[in-house]
Amino acid sequence: MQKFIITGGSRLSGELTLQGSKNSILPIMAAALLGEGRSVLRNCPMLTDVFSASRILGGLGCRCTFSDGAAVIDPCGASGSEIPEELMREMRSSIMFMGAILGRMGECTFSVPGGCELGPRPIDMHLAAMRKMGADISDSGGRIYCRIAGGRAHGAKINLPFPSVGATENIILCAVCADGETIINNAAREPEICDLCSFLRKRGAEIKGDGGGTIVICGTEKLRGCEHIVMPDRIAGATYLSMTAAAGGEIILKNACVAEMEPFLSVLEQTGCRIYTAENRIYLRSGARLRAIRERIRTMPHPGFPTDAQAVLMAALAVADGASVFEENIFDCRYRHTDALNKMGADIEVLGKVAVVRGVAGLHGADINATDLRGGAAMAAAALAAEGTTCLSGISHIDRGYEKFEETVSCLGGKIRRV
Ligand code: EPZ
Repeated sequence: MQKFIITGGSRLSGELTLQGSKNSILPIMAAALLGEGRSVLRNCPMLTDVFSASRILGGLGCRCTFSDGAAVIDPCGASGSEIPEELMREMRSSIMFMGAILGRMGECTFSVPGGCELGPRPIDMHLAAMRKMGADISDSGGRIYCRIAGGRAHGAKINLPFPSVGATENIILCAVCADGETIINNAAREPEICDLCSFLRKRGAEIKGDGGGTIVICGTEKLRGCEHIVMPDRIAGATYLSMTAAAGGEIILKNACVAEMEPFLSVLEQTGCRIYTAENRIYLRSGARLRAIRERIRTMPHPGFPTDAQAVLMAALAVADGASVFEENIFDCRYRHTDALNKMGADIEVLGKVAVVRGVAGLHGADINATDLRGGAAMAAAALAAEGTTCLSGISHIDRGYEKFEETVSCLGGKIRRV
């Protein structure tokens, strides 16, 4: 099991070009299964989750190769409709293949997906939507069987009880090749959904309304190949900014999606960090001690404060002057990083969905274990701000979402090595 050894206390400084978005490329890879023609996905982050998705595609009969920072996916040999259990267990986004496989093959067999342990992560909304589009669903021995009589899904009006990102994506993936029109009410508005829709439109799909609460999809017979540049990763951006805010220093993020990061930037700015943005660049300088955030930081669906940035911002606020309060409204169990931060000297109290972070003067190194992707990144940020050396295990979680993490941190002057 690999670990990061991180010695804190150095200021971070430098420029970095943001990786492509993990949460964007994964549904886009599933979408590449649909129709005919090769998809060339540029700005593809080289992550273990992306390689898991490529194994799923390979198992279905697609060709998926990587070169020069691009993934090239050719679905012409696709004939399978099953996802093996071990691949389902590797990541949550494996569920995204359900909509695409059903859209292409009219049937799909899979099991409950794995992924970060953030509390219960049911797939009831995904399944209810597929049923509305014509799927007959049963389960036996841990496997879920979906079949559409006649082989082609039909359009439907779907009212989501909550704007689930994954359910919205799955419905889109099934609806683009379905018979007729699908309307998703209370759809998720995350920028990664717009990226998926923009990719599908380039391939010939008819989709309107993404980015708003209602998405309308008109099914088409055929989708063609295309080239697409995957959007920058707003959560990786939030991570490197929070890390610099915590450790002190200055950073320029290049290839950043400034508008999409606004809900995060507007909160981070209240810590007293200087932040300037221009086109696709973000500059941050963190000098004096950070200030606590006065208003409660409530995680909400986009355009609210992103749940994926909660842990990394918390690492920075752990050393701020004063107390900040978080309210986690998306997942039931997304404060698992707080034990590790407290072990490093932080003062964080969790009361149900609320976490009270009383800023301390400094953190110290410790032996800690990453329990999920963003929690792991938060621990690394805290370690860079701490005095002494931290041994961070469980870093396979970090490799799922951050490309060349230690090289990026080292380039900024952080002392980190993988052992
Ligand atoms: C996506 O997960 C992201 N993952 C998550 O990022 C992100 O935290 C989340 O959206 C919220 O923004 C990917 O895009 C690959 P949801 P997803 O469906 O689709 C409940 C990261 O760190 N729900 O919007 O799984 C669910 O339990 C990851 O990069 C149901 O009850 O999130 C949760 O409480 C972690 N039934 C809430 O909705 C369902 O059928 C939001 O989940 C589906 C979801």
